[in-house]
Amino acid sequence: DIVPLNLAHSTTAEIQLGGYVIPAGTDILANFTAILNDPKHFPEPEKFRPERHLDERGDFVQNEALIPFSIGRRVCLGEALARVELFIFFTGILQNFDIRLPDGVTDPSMDGTHGFIWMANPYLLHCVARQ
Ligand code: HEM
Repeated sequence: DIVPLNLAHSTTAEIQLGGYVIPAGTDILANFTAILNDPKHFPEPEKFRPERHLDERGDFVQNEALIPFSIGRRVCLGEALARVELFIFFTGILQNFDIRLPDGVTDPSMDGTHGFIWMANPYLLHCVARQ
């Protein structure tokens, strides 16, 4: 959940959606936070549980509600680059460090600050360089 209300869009023509009539020229913000934290699609969304996205073989499970980059014609143009960057940064960190929660901490913090983006609040991790 990185861009909580997506980018602003507006209707170019009157449309009907979910029983509502939305006039042309209406500003539209999609509530991605609600979608990406919907317990119907992500049980106990407030819990840090990355394995929710993997099957028993460790392969990624597609989920139609997992849309941090949006969907449709205006989907993030940088999605492929962002995915590769995240993969390289994250695997680089995991290859070089064992990461644990600090002593006395049982759950990773999911606290963040809402703005144009959802930003994680500062948190502590115990990182030990791998030999
Ligand atoms: C984790 C990283 C990123 C996330 C979660 C993200 C998410 C998004 C979202 C939600 C949108 C709005 C889509 C819409 O209007 O429906 C967007 C648009 C866009 N993003 Fe990203 N983005 C990321 C990284 C990047 C990067 C690295 C680039 C470029 C190098 C990029 C370039 C763009 C551009 C150009 C648009 C506008 C596309 C358009 O309106 O046609 N994004 N992004």
